[in-house]
Amino acid sequence: MMTLRPATPNDLALLRHWNDQPHVVASNPNDDWAWEVELERSPDWREQLIAEVDSRPIGFVQIIDPALEESHYWGNVPLGLRAIDIWIGEEADLGKGYGTEMMRLALVRCFEDPAVSAVLLDPLTNNVRAHRFYERLGFQFVQRRRFGKDECFVYRLERSHYTEAAQ
Ligand SMILES: CC(C)(COP(=O)(O)OP(=O)(O)OC[C@H]1O[C@@H](n2cnc3c(N)ncnc32)[C@H](O)[C@@H]1OP(=O)(O)O)[C@@H](O)C(=O)NCCC(=O)NCCS
Repeated sequence: MMTLRPATPNDLALLRHWNDQPHVVASNPNDDWAWEVELERSPDWREQLIAEVDSRPIGFVQIIDPALEESHYWGNVPLGLRAIDIWIGEEADLGKGYGTEMMRLALVRCFEDPAVSAVLLDPLTNNVRAHRFYERLGFQFVQRRRFGKDECFVYRLERSHYTEAAQ
């Protein structure tokens, strides 16, 4: 039984530990998540969530409104979008279906707002397994794009495609 709950300052050590795991570093080598600062605040353009399986924390998922996010990481994008970051914390928990269930729950949260028309992702170009994971969930490749030091593939899931897949 998986749930998503808000991350809190009590998760600081756990999130730092997960960020040190080689599989997490490989997927996200250049970002400083500044947990000690960010866990203390809850801007209304962001949700930082911990996935728990039977009350055991196993992963992290962030949902942002890319138009309102403060650094304008996504550039000039319209309202009505969401962007997701996701990782499983421990290597031993990879490949067990947890990520699929986390994405299912995250997408429900994104699309329950009727103003949301599509969801974006930006895996690194070399994260081939993540590409396959997202494509299986119905995301479609949009373009290759550089974000800071990172060469990424942008993926997008339209609401219409999501609704079809959910039926
Ligand atoms: C991507 C991720 C969230 C998927 O969650 P998961 O629980 O491992 O995935 P599931 O068991 O639901 O589905 C299995 C699929 O996940 C993907 N996956 C598995 N291990 C992975 C890894 N180390 N890195 C990236 N993707 C992986 C593969 O597509 C796999 O399918 P495959 O076995 O046919 O290759 C998880 O693997 C992960 O945290 N990877 C490392 C961090 C990362 O790449 N995050 C995404 C950044 S954009």
